[in-house]
Amino acid sequence: MTLWRRPYRRMILCFWVLILALSVATLALLELLFWDKNQTPPSSPLHRVQPLFSGPLELEVMLDSRDQDKPEYGFGLTQLSSLREDHLLFVPVTQVRTSSTSPRMESYRMMKSSAKKQSAVRVQAIGDMGRLDGRESDKHKYALKKYGFNEVLSDRISLHRRLPEVRDPECLVERYSESLPSASVVICFHDEAWSTLLRTVHSVLDTAPRKHLREVLLVDDLSQHGHLKSVLSEYVSRLEGVRLVRSMRHLGVAGCRSLGAARALGEVLVFMDSHCECHGGWLEPLLERVAQDRTRVVSPIIDVIDGQTFQYNATQWPHRGVFDWRLDFHWEPLSQHKHLDSSAEPVRCPALAGSILALDRHFFLSVGAYDPGMQLWGAEHTELSIRVWLCGGSMEVVPCSRVAHLGRHHTHYHLPYHQDIQQRNKIRLAETWLESYRNIYYRRDMLAHFIRQSESPNITERVRLKTSLGCRNFHWFLNNIYPELYVPEDPPSSSGELYNVGTGYCADYPIGGSPEGGAMDVAPCRGNGYQHCELNSLGEMRWGPAGRLCFAGLGERVILTPCLANQPPHTKLRWRVIKLSGQVVHLETQRCLEAVKDKGGEERDMGGHQRGGNPNHRGLFLRPCARHPRQQWHFEQLFIHNGA
Ligand SMILES: *[C@@H]1O[C@H](CO)[C@@H](O)[C@H](O)[C@H]1NC(C)=O
Ligand SMILES: *[C@@H]1O[C@H](CO)[C@@H](O)[C@H](O)[C@H]1NC(C)=O
Repeated sequence: MTLWRRPYRRMILCFWVLILALSVATLALLELLFWDKNQTPPSSPLHRVQPLFSGPLELEVMLDSRDQDKPEYGFGLTQLSSLREDHLLFVPVTQVRTSSTSPRMESYRMMKSSAKKQSAVRVQAIGDMGRLDGRESDKHKYALKKYGFNEVLSDRISLHRRLPEVRDPECLVERYSESLPSASVVICFHDEAWSTLLRTVHSVLDTAPRKHLREVLLVDDLSQHGHLKSVLSEYVSRLEGVRLVRSMRHLGVAGCRSLGAARALGEVLVFMDSHCECHGGWLEPLLERVAQDRTRVVSPIIDVIDGQTFQYNATQWPHRGVFDWRLDFHWEPLSQHKHLDSSAEPVRCPALAGSILALDRHFFLSVGAYDPGMQLWGAEHTELSIRVWLCGGSMEVVPCSRVAHLGRHHTHYHLPYHQDIQQRNKIRLAETWLESYRNIYYRRDMLAHFIRQSESPNITERVRLKTSLGCRNFHWFLNNIYPELYVPEDPPSSSGELYNVGTGYCADYPIGGSPEGGAMDVAPCRGNGYQHCELNSLGEMRWGPAGRLCFAGLGERVILTPCLANQPPHTKLRWRVIKLSGQVVHLETQRCLEAVKDKGGEERDMGGHQRGGNPNHRGLFLRPCARHPRQQWHFEQLFIHNGA
C-alpha cells in the first residue's frame, strides 16, 4: 500500500501547487489587462505600472485601425529593400487574422526566453509577433533612469504651452500653397520622461494644421520605464491622429526611424526627437520646400530649451550645419562673405542635425533610409547628410520654420559601452563614403583606428546601394558642397601629437576651450588623436578636428587662432622645424617653441613668482632659441597605415 500511496500524495501536492500557480498567473494577467482601465491617465507618471516579471514588461504593438486596410504595413516593409527586415521588426512567426473587433490587443501568451530564462509576456497584434532577445534587453536594464534635465520642473509646465514669437517679420507675411503634401511626424523614443514626450506630441497637434498633418507616429524603441507602457497606450488611444507602434528590439535612432518610415502613411516624413516643442507655423515652410523639390532634406532653425530652467532660447540666424574630421556635427555661424538677400531665405548646408528633419518619404526610402548597421545613436545623421548630397539630394535650413529642442546631456550616452558604438558608426560612415579621406578621420580618432585594425565592418549592402544609385564621390563633395573644410595634408614626418622632450608632455588645447582659440597648453600625451596637429606645406601648424585653428604668437605666448582661408598665411602663423635639433621656429619672431610645465623649478624662467597650477605660467611660449630639451620636439605618429 505505502508503495503507491507516497507517489499518490506527491501527485496531489503537485496538483494543488499547479492550481495555485495558475491562479496567480491568471490574477497577474487580469491585473495587467485591467489595471489602468479604471484610472484616468495621470498628467505625470506618479502611478507607474508595477512590473510583474523580472524581465521586460509587457510588449505590445498598438496599431490604429487604419492599419488593417494596409496589410503591407504589418510585416512587409517592401519599400525597404536595402534594409534587412529582421533589423527592423521581428519576423512574424504566425500570421494573425485581421480582427474586426478590437483593433488593439489580440491575445496574450506566456513564453520563456531561452537565452536568459526570463519570463515575458508576448503579445500578438494584427500580424505582428515578437521574440525577445535576452541579451539586448539585459543591456538596457543598465540604462540610467536619470534624464539629465529638470524633470520635476518639466512636469509642472503645461503640455500645451506656447512659445514666444521669434520668427523674422518676413516670415509672417509668407503665404504657402494650400495643396501641400501630407506629413507624418515620426517620434522615436527610448525611456523618455512623460511630460517631455507628451509635450512634444501636443505641441505638434497644437501647431500643425490638420489638413497637412496625416499623423503623429510614436515609435517606442523598447523603453523600460513603466509610464511608457500601458499608461501611454491608454493616453494615446484618446488622441486623434496619433498612433503608437512598439519595437520588440532596441533599434537605436537609425533603425527606429527607418521602422517609423516604413509604417508612416504621410507623403513627407518629419523625424523629431522626443523632447521638442514646435513654434507656430513651423510645418508649412518645411512642406513647401519639400513639395518644390522632392530630393530636398530640410530642417527648421533648432532653438534651445534650457534643460534646467525650461526657458526657451532662440538660436542666432544665419548659421549652417557642418561636420569635422572626427565626423562630429556642429552648427556654425554663416561667415560674413556669404551674403543672404533675405533672412527668410533657406540656407544650404553640408550636413543637418538629426534632432528634427523633414524629407519626402519615397526619396528617403529610395536613397537607403538610415544605415541599418548603425547602432543606438551617433553619426547616423552625418552619414545621411553625406549620402543625400552624394546621391542626388540636397540639405538646407528653412529659417521661417522653428522648433525648439531640449538641450540636455543624457547621461546614459556616456556609459562605456556606448562609447565605441559611436566609433563603430563612424567607421561605417568612413568606410562607405570617405574613400582615401578616411585616414584623415582615423588619425584624429585613434580608438576608431584600433577598432578598424582588428575588425572590418560589413558594408557590402551599403556599397551596393552606393553603386546602384550612382552616387558621386567624396572628392566631389569636398569641392562642391563643403569647400570650406580644410583638407589636412598630414605629412608623416610632421603630423601627430607634438611631443616635448624636456617635459615629456604633448602640446594641448583643453577640450571645451573656446572654438575660436585661446592659449595653448601642455598636458600628458593622450594617444587618442585629440592632440593631433599638423605642420603643413604652407608652414601652418594646424590644430583641431576641423584643422581650422592655427598656432600663432601673441607676445610671449603661443595661442590658437582661426587660420586664414584662401590666402597665404602671415608670418605670424608660420613655423619651421629644424630637423637636427628638433626646434620649432616661429618665422615672424625667429624665436623657438618652448614647453613650460608648472612643476619643479622651471617657473623661475617665468620670473620666479607664483608656483603651482596657475595656467598663466604653464603652456607654450616663444623664447630665444637655445639647445634645451624644453625646446626639443618631435611628432608622435600613432597611426599605423595598413595599406588598405
Ligand atoms: C538661455 O538664455 C539665457 C539668457 O540669455 C542663458 O543664461 C542660458 O544659458 C541660455 N540657455 C541655453 C541652454 O542656451
Ligand atoms: C555581409 O552582409 C551581407 C548581406 O548583408 C552578407 O551576405 C554577407 O555574408 C556578410 N558578410 C560577412 C563577411 O559577414
